[in-house]
This record gives sequence, structure tokens and C-alpha cells, in this order.
Amino acid sequence: MSIFTKFKFAAKHPIITIKYLLGDEKAVYYQKRRDNINNAIKSLGIRKRININECLIQLDRNIIPIIEKALDIYKNADPSSMRFYKGHLLYYLIRVIKPAIVVETGVASGISSLFILQALNDNDYGHLYSIDLPNVEPKSSLPSGYDPGWVIPENLRGVMDFNTR
Ligand SMILES: C[S@@+](CC[C@H](N)C(=O)[O-])C[C@H]1O[C@@H](n2cnc3c(N)ncnc32)[C@H](O)[C@@H]1O
Repeated sequence: MSIFTKFKFAAKHPIITIKYLLGDEKAVYYQKRRDNINNAIKSLGIRKRININECLIQLDRNIIPIIEKALDIYKNADPSSMRFYKGHLLYYLIRVIKPAIVVETGVASGISSLFILQALNDNDYGHLYSIDLPNVEPKSSLPSGYDPGWVIPENLRGVMDFNTR
């Protein structure tokens, strides 16, 4: 964050900033995550809402340990930083929209698939169709000996169809 962005954030969220300065290290991250979701929902014109905090606390509990374990095995498992903001947005949108079908192109290790599948699982509805051309992008290559989507745990694979060539 640049100094200007920090000041802008502090002016918009003085209480969160005070919490952060008093040692609540996660306060700013959680607020940025909420802002990110609120902005996306507004720009997509989605009216339906569910409680962001409750929704993401449940998500953190389920997903963070899986991602941390994956990053211990392979530090490039998350090339697009899905774990910080994008994955949570993906999860929230699927929880709100409750789609019957989700199509994903480009799986790599499967971090984004993990967020999508966890949302479908928590909705108890919907199916994910994923396609991947493994290792066509050097930055999102797989660890040697691992298949595309290796991060996805067995219990979430039931609502997934996965094609690789
Ligand atoms: C940035 S990675 C995806 C990362 C993943 N979505 C995540 O966030 O964890 C992009 C993936 O798309 C795959 N890919 C690139 N071109 C593709 C294509 N034309 N069809 C299918 N997959 C493709 C790459 O091999 C790579 O696995």
C-alpha cells in the first residue's frame, strides 16, 4: 500500500486503523476483504446479501489449513494470490448467487477450484466443470509428480468434473 492509499484507508476506516495501531494485525486485512466484496457486489448490481464476516469466518476455518499445507509442499501453488482476496470474493459470489453450474478454465494446483468447491459444498447445490492444460504457463507450473488440482481434498471432489489433456 502506498502512503496515499494508507491515508485514504485511514480516513475511510478510522476505527479499523486504530484497532490496527493497537495491535490487531488482521483488522486492516479483514476490512479490505469486506471492501473488495462490497465493491464487487455493487458493480455487479447484486442486491442479495449474506453476512460477509460470518461467511468468511466459516471459509477461513475450512480452507486456510489446506492452503497452508499446500504452500508447505509447493510455494508456487498460489500464483495469483487467490488466498488473500480473490478466492474470498469467488467464494462469497457463489454463496450469494447459488449457481447450478460453474465453469473454470485453468486449474493449475487448484486453489481457485478449492474456493469454488467449498462454496458449492456450503450451498449444498451446484456443480463445477473444470478444464486445464497443465504447465502451459511457467509461473503456474505444478510440482513434480503432482497432477492438476492436487490441492483439492477428496471430500470436495464429488461435485467436480475435471478435464485435462
Ligand atoms: C494462473 S493458472 C490458474 C490458477 C488457478 N486458477 C488458481 O488461482 O489457483 C492458469 C492455468 O491455466 C492453464 N491454461 C492456460 N491456457 C489454457 C487453456 N487454453 N485452456 C485450459 N487451461 C489453460 C495453465 O496451464 C494454468 O494451469
